[in-house]
Amino acid sequence: AYLVIHPGRTLGVVGESGSGKSTLAQALLGLLPFSGDLQIAGRAWELPVQRNSAANQALRRSVQVVFQDPFSSLSPRLTVEEIVGEGLRVHARQESEAGRRARVEAALADVGLTHAQFPGLLGRYPHEFSGGQRQRIAIARALILEPRLLVLDEPTR
Ligand SMILES: Nc1ncnc2c1ncn2[C@@H]1O[C@H](COP(=O)(O)OP(=O)(O)O)[C@@H](O)[C@H]1O
Ligand SMILES: [Mg+2]
Repeated sequence: AYLVIHPGRTLGVVGESGSGKSTLAQALLGLLPFSGDLQIAGRAWELPVQRNSAANQALRRSVQVVFQDPFSSLSPRLTVEEIVGEGLRVHARQESEAGRRARVEAALADVGLTHAQFPGLLGRYPHEFSGGQRQRIAIARALILEPRLLVLDEPTR
């Protein structure tokens, strides 16, 4: 059995509880060892021992995830700017502080969160937002790195 996900397309995986949807997502994210062949944009995860190999670093940027539970998936002690900009600090270290901030603001605007709606947006904490708004923050965090593959594990339960 195999599946192929083409660029720009959405693939829905449907199955009852315990059928393995989240397990598949974990494998796509390189978080679980698996047998068989799993390639993303022609690259394969080096699993499970070489978690920080150069190939895995590149893949980690290409594959982003939004989990089901927005309450446990956002660090309560980090500001919105820190949460959404976290990946940029790792993957775009050469970019200026101002440049990163502009990208964080653009990513938040893309998911419908703006200063007009939330004064001081960048300095706010997750508890100041509703569940749906937290999910938008999590989606902005995932999209800011322009991933090849975005994994959504029941993000709107
Ligand atoms: N950490 C784990 N250790 C052992 N078994 C697990 C673990 N996580 C999930 N499972 C089992 O793997 C199967 C698939 O689970 P999961 O991928 O979470 O299903 P789904 O997301 O489709 O509900 C289930 O039988 C579940 O009990
Ligand atoms: Mg699941």
